[in-house]
Amino acid sequence: MYEIDRYVDVNIRGTSLLLDILAKKEAGSETVRRLVVASSRAIYGEGKYKGRNSYVYPGARDPGDLSNGIFDCRDPESGDIAVAVPTDEDSKIHPSSIYGITKQVQEQLILTGGASLGIPSVALRYQNVYGPGQSLKNPYTGILSIFSTLLLQGKDINIFEDGKETRDFVYIDDVVSATLAAIDADVSGAAYNVGTGQATDVLSVAQALRANYGSDGEIKVTGNFRVGDIRHNFADLTRAKSDLGFVPAVDFAHGVKAFADWVQTQEVSDSGYERSVSEMRSKGLLK
Ligand SMILES: NC(=O)c1ccc[n+]([C@@H]2O[C@H](COP(=O)([O-])OP(=O)(O)OC[C@H]3O[C@@H](n4cnc5c(N)ncnc54)[C@H](O)[C@@H]3O)[C@@H](O)[C@H]2O)c1
Repeated sequence: MYEIDRYVDVNIRGTSLLLDILAKKEAGSETVRRLVVASSRAIYGEGKYKGRNSYVYPGARDPGDLSNGIFDCRDPESGDIAVAVPTDEDSKIHPSSIYGITKQVQEQLILTGGASLGIPSVALRYQNVYGPGQSLKNPYTGILSIFSTLLLQGKDINIFEDGKETRDFVYIDDVVSATLAAIDADVSGAAYNVGTGQATDVLSVAQALRANYGSDGEIKVTGNFRVGDIRHNFADLTRAKSDLGFVPAVDFAHGVKAFADWVQTQEVSDSGYERSVSEMRSKGLLK
């Protein structure tokens, strides 16, 4: 959210440079047989929901609702609370973050650029990836790192909203399998979700980590909320299964244990999370 120009520079300009190199057939580029872009669930923004009469794609939640502790999304047509369903690849693309916008453009650059260059290309829309090896220092790489660092430093965890907001946490080995399948599959010009298809709420993530670390840090549900956060998004994997043969093998309980075992072999330093929270607060992005 804070380094808009950097997101655009790396995700959009970096990708356009790559395509230029391929278009000019610079040294080595003729051996590129396929492009696979690490796209993101962030391009969907809020996921797919069942409204009163049809599937709906809620936009940003009403600040009044959020201030009153109503965190669920409403059906934009009826105003009823809507129910999240798996988000498929034909769902509305309406990113709610600058990062999501840059990933959407990056995906389109690769799929469109690949087609015009005659290089088969595939986009994989990763859900929330986690696992051994992920950065424990960068506060933007996800809540498993953030919560782990806090718990291992003996600090409390402050959970936003009511803790029932969900994400689809997919273990790194499954992401690698899906990526290898996309490299080998005879498909082109398509986008695929990569996740587990399971929604896990943020409070459960904190509790699972605390249990794995045997920590007694307190988990506090604060009711605070971040402007622009989505409430739910989890993957519909039908297309990835039928075209790529992708079926995730690691459920959250096993994956989080493997992650926590690895974290305990690492030197845990400041994740920069508290700094990022004060920065969000000072910019009016955390309420
Ligand atoms: N981690 C997730 O949950 C997730 C979800 C969806 C999509 N993705 C996408 O997957 C990709 C990898 O993400 P990650 O989570 O492994 O991130 P990461 O920050 O762990 O790794 C990013 C890598 O890119 C390199 N990099 C950064 N800027 C660069 C530049 N200008 N030129 C060349 N290399 C540069 C970094 O050095 C680092 O090795 C990204 O495109 C990200 O958008 C990740």
